[in-house]
Amino acid sequence: MGSLQWGGRFASAPDAALLTFGSSLEADLALAPYDVRCSRGHVAALESGGIIGASQARALREALDHVADEIADGSFATWARAGNFEDVHGAIDARVRDYAGKAGELLHAGRSRNDQVATTLLLFAREAAAEGARHAIDVAALCEDRASDALAQQTLLAATTHWQPAQPVLLAFWLDALAQGFARAAARLASVGRDAARFCPLGSAALAGSSLPLDRVAAARELGFDAPTRNALDAVGDRDVALDLLHAITRAVLAASRASEELVLWATPAFGYVRLDDAASTGSSLMPQKRNPDPFELVRAHGAKLIGAYAGALASVNGIALSYHRDLQETKAQVLAGVVDGLAALDAFRRALAHVHFRGDVMTARAGEGYTVATDLADAVILVGSTAREAHRAVGERVLRAEEERRPLGAEDAAALGVPQAPVDPLGSVLGKKTAGSTHPDAVAASIAATRDALAVLSESLP
Ligand code: ARG
Repeated sequence: MGSLQWGGRFASAPDAALLTFGSSLEADLALAPYDVRCSRGHVAALESGGIIGASQARALREALDHVADEIADGSFATWARAGNFEDVHGAIDARVRDYAGKAGELLHAGRSRNDQVATTLLLFAREAAAEGARHAIDVAALCEDRASDALAQQTLLAATTHWQPAQPVLLAFWLDALAQGFARAAARLASVGRDAARFCPLGSAALAGSSLPLDRVAAARELGFDAPTRNALDAVGDRDVALDLLHAITRAVLAASRASEELVLWATPAFGYVRLDDAASTGSSLMPQKRNPDPFELVRAHGAKLIGAYAGALASVNGIALSYHRDLQETKAQVLAGVVDGLAALDAFRRALAHVHFRGDVMTARAGEGYTVATDLADAVILVGSTAREAHRAVGERVLRAEEERRPLGAEDAAALGVPQAPVDPLGSVLGKKTAGSTHPDAVAASIAATRDALAVLSESLP
């Protein structure tokens, strides 16, 4: 019973099973270092508001230092698990009382777990967002390194829509395309991290603010926020930043998941576009010949996990009234688990991508399959005066004939269409591109360079 932060108005003990059901300690332990920081912020508010004196503040800070050491060396988790704590916040409060004695009983003055949880989650989100951004930047940078190599080789690829051959592109273009998704997610994560440093909920107390003269500005400053939140009723129940964090990490994982799908198919003998190093492949316990691209399949499935965590977190907030409700304990659990899974997926994707060998000869040799230069022929026909409709029909008829004759489009088709100079080979197609952002080697080189610059700027901006 000593583990609970309440009880005076209760005549009998809580049902042990319900207490266990209600405990978030296990999930919360990841928040322990942030709760200690949050508590330091509250000490600042108490001291600067004149609610506690300098010696009491010192005793509290020293106790918090002890707890921080125990968190770092793992002994706090062991100690907390042996108690009957409802959450990590109560456990830290109890440990502070162990060390600070009577002064320890003042730490919770004017504080509720409601403003404490909201603040702690923002401190966590700030670091998790920066960590997520760094992971996404690392993946994007690797994509661009691999894109540079592929650009030097001029490796071609039959890009698809609907998984059907569409148009020839450079493999470098595909890799640079991957980098864009990670770069956008990284920028979004960095911005979520900045949002997590805007308004400090501490001092909102349970929901109405406090009758104690807490110095909320001192707390906000101590914790690196711009300012205190404006409305306590909103502040204790607002989980927008936590949801944005999960959303942004989910987006990065979806970028990895979509690329993984393509790489899994490319690794099949039917495609033969890539070979995965032994280090990133797994075998079958029964079929001796197998080499499976498991990391990419698992990354793909992590997209599903993250969507589940995000949807679960959103759903736990849906329909709950203003202020704090216990449902929000589950929001926290979904966010914490989602962040762990998301970071793991990004790390695994980066490692596995480093182990991919692109078989440039195979990809390039097959870049023209499926009449992928047909659009270039149609463009050429438009340039000599036809309408788009006429050009589309005329080239379509040549494709039909070539298909019947079981041959690729060739010079004879270009000549018959009145465009003898038009490219009928995949490299010619790629070199014929004129627009910014196209698969032309110059455009791809420009995109790689601009993306690298943007990644460097973003990386510099992270805390
Ligand atoms: N254990 C809860 C959580 O982690 C905190 C409880 C806050 N307030 C309350 N009145 N029960 O979200």
